[in-house]
Parts: sequence; structure tokens; C-alpha cells
Amino acid sequence: MKAKIIGVGSNLPKKVVTNADLEKIVETNDEWIKTRTGICERRVTDYDTSTSDLAIKAAEKALQAAKLDPEKLDLIIVGTTSSDYLFPSTACILQSKLGAKNAAAFDVSAACAGFNFALTTATQYIENGTYQNVLVVGADTLTKYLDWTDRGTCILFGDAAGAVVLTQSSDDSGVLASWLKAEGQLGDNLIMPGGGSRDPEQRHGRFITMNGKEVFKFAVRVLEESIKAVLQKANLEIKDVNLLIPHQANTRIIDHVSKKMGLAKEKVFVNLHKYGNTSAASIPLALDEALAAGQIKKGDLVILSGFGAGLTCGANAIRW
Ligand code: UT7
Repeated sequence: MKAKIIGVGSNLPKKVVTNADLEKIVETNDEWIKTRTGICERRVTDYDTSTSDLAIKAAEKALQAAKLDPEKLDLIIVGTTSSDYLFPSTACILQSKLGAKNAAAFDVSAACAGFNFALTTATQYIENGTYQNVLVVGADTLTKYLDWTDRGTCILFGDAAGAVVLTQSSDDSGVLASWLKAEGQLGDNLIMPGGGSRDPEQRHGRFITMNGKEVFKFAVRVLEESIKAVLQKANLEIKDVNLLIPHQANTRIIDHVSKKMGLAKEKVFVNLHKYGNTSAASIPLALDEALAAGQIKKGDLVILSGFGAGLTCGANAIRW
């Protein structure tokens, strides 16, 4: 039995912050940001909007597209590292707000790879017959954890949510293979040191700190590794891929890997110029846009690959 995506939805905050806006608050410029990252603008939530607020609308849209009543959901998994609270989980907040009274619910923490980890987990429950309908969400509001005086991080991130509804597949379509990886020994390179049990009073601050160069090296290495590994698991080759949707972090990472792997530009989806790095939301948001743009057709092989804090990486090969 395979797990198949039957509905996709996404949601973005309205407020746009351009590179020109950032020039007014840190020593940076539009040219540097564009050439070093590919980002032109990003969306930022207001103070009163939480991750679950963004996620609920993305989930509603995905359920609508799937024509599925929330009461039919068996499970909700949210990939996030900016949950509303330490507990309860964002998935439980969604379960309540959606009225998905028959669903179990939990979050997974794999930062920007969170959607791939959540999708892979959901797939197992469907493949082994435990559950029939699962809602998988990737949602983050990392701009709330940015030091707006640190030009190495504040230019990169944006907020968003994306969601998919998975169900049992009765044909050849669905998730063909999944591949996950963690390199915890590299974890200090991208960390939110304050607010957890090691530092509940946030003496080490409440901001994301990142060693950009090390994360960049990891990303380039594992993006390629993950695509090769998931294709090998599915018994397919790079020439079979119709569309790669990589985590939208930096066009230099995406271009380098696509070129090295011989993937033509039109086979690689990129929307990060509009939204920056939206963490766990990046892949479902891109998937939603790719579908709306008619870039995915029935029978296509779509590869999703995400990487981020942990450090983590995950990929899924999907027959549409
Ligand atoms: O989901 C995973 C999340 N993280 C990532 O994907 C991040 C991966 N890393 C990156 O994308 C890149 O490392 C960055 C975009 C963060 C930085 O690009 P870089 O090419 O690695 O730049 P760098 O840190 O080596 O800095 C080069 C220069 C430095 O100046 P000097 O020392 O050469 O004079 C920086 O101080 O650029 C300077 N710089 C900036 N200049 C203008 C760094 N940030 C900025 C900035 N504006 N925003």
C-alpha cells in the first residue's frame, strides 16, 4: 500500500519585507543579498500571529482540495521548530481548531527538513495500514527568532505554512521512497540556544545563531546525497525526474547541485526570491505553487529534498 497526496494548501502572511527595507536596518544591500542568496523579498508575520494561525489556513485549503472532512483525519503531523508553545504541540492546536476529533496529533522537530520528516512518518502509518487519512503540515515563523541586527541571518528567513493530505493509494501513484539523515555532531552550526531546558531564562539569547559557511557546505553535500539515495531506493535514475523541489534556502546551493547532477533548470522549482527560507514550510509551499502553475502532471516523478538544523536532511520520491 502506498501513501498518496490528494490535497495541497499553503498560507503566507501579508507583510512583505524587501531587501531595500533591510538596507535600512542592517549594513547590507540588495545586490549582495540577491547574488549571495537569490532572495528579493520575504513575508513576515505580525506579533499576534503564531505558527498555528498560519498553519490552520494552509491545512483548511489542503483539506478543501482533498474534499476531505476533518473528522475523517486519523492523524495530524506538524513539522515545526517555532511551535506556539513548548507544549501543547502545534498539531494538537490544529486538531482542535479543525475539529478533527478523531485524529491523533504530534509535532516533529527537524527544522527546515521538518516537512520531509513529517511526510516520511505519515507515509509509514499509511503503508502499514494503521491509518487511512493523514494531514501533514510544515509551518514556521522563524522571523520571530531573528536578531534583526545580525545581517548573516536576518536577510535569509521568512514565514509561511504549507500542508498536504495523504491517503491510501489504490493505483501506482504515491510516495515511492523516503530517505532521512541526521548529523547531530554538526548541530551547533545552526542553533536556537535559549528557551529550552538548558537555558529556560534565555541567558544565551532568544535568537537563531548560524555558521552560514558550515551549513552551506552541509547543504550542498546532503542535497546531492539525498536525491541520489532516494532515487536508488525507488530504483530510479536522475533522468527519470520530472521536477525537483529542493528546500528553498539559497539559489547558489540549488544551482550548484542541479548543475552537478545534470538537472536542467526547468526541472528544478525555485520560488525563494519571493519568500526567502520559510523553513519547514518551504517545500509544501513550493509544491502548492508548482501545482498551481501546472508544473506537475499525473505520472510525473517529483523529488522533495529538505535540509536544516540538527543538522538534518530528508528526501521523498513521489509518483504524481
Ligand atoms: O535551512 C538551512 C538554513 N541555512 C542556510 O541554508 C544557510 C547556508 N549558508 C548560506 O546561505 C551562506 O553562507 C550565507 C548567505 C548565509 C552567507 O553567504 P557567504 O557567501 O557564505 O558569505 P560569508 O558569510 O562568507 O560572508 C562573506 C562576506 C563577509 O565579509 P568579509 O569578511 O569578506 O569582509 C561578510 O561579513 O560578506 C559579508 N556579509 C554580508 N555583506 C552584506 C555577510 N552577510 C552580509 C549581508 N550583506 N547580509
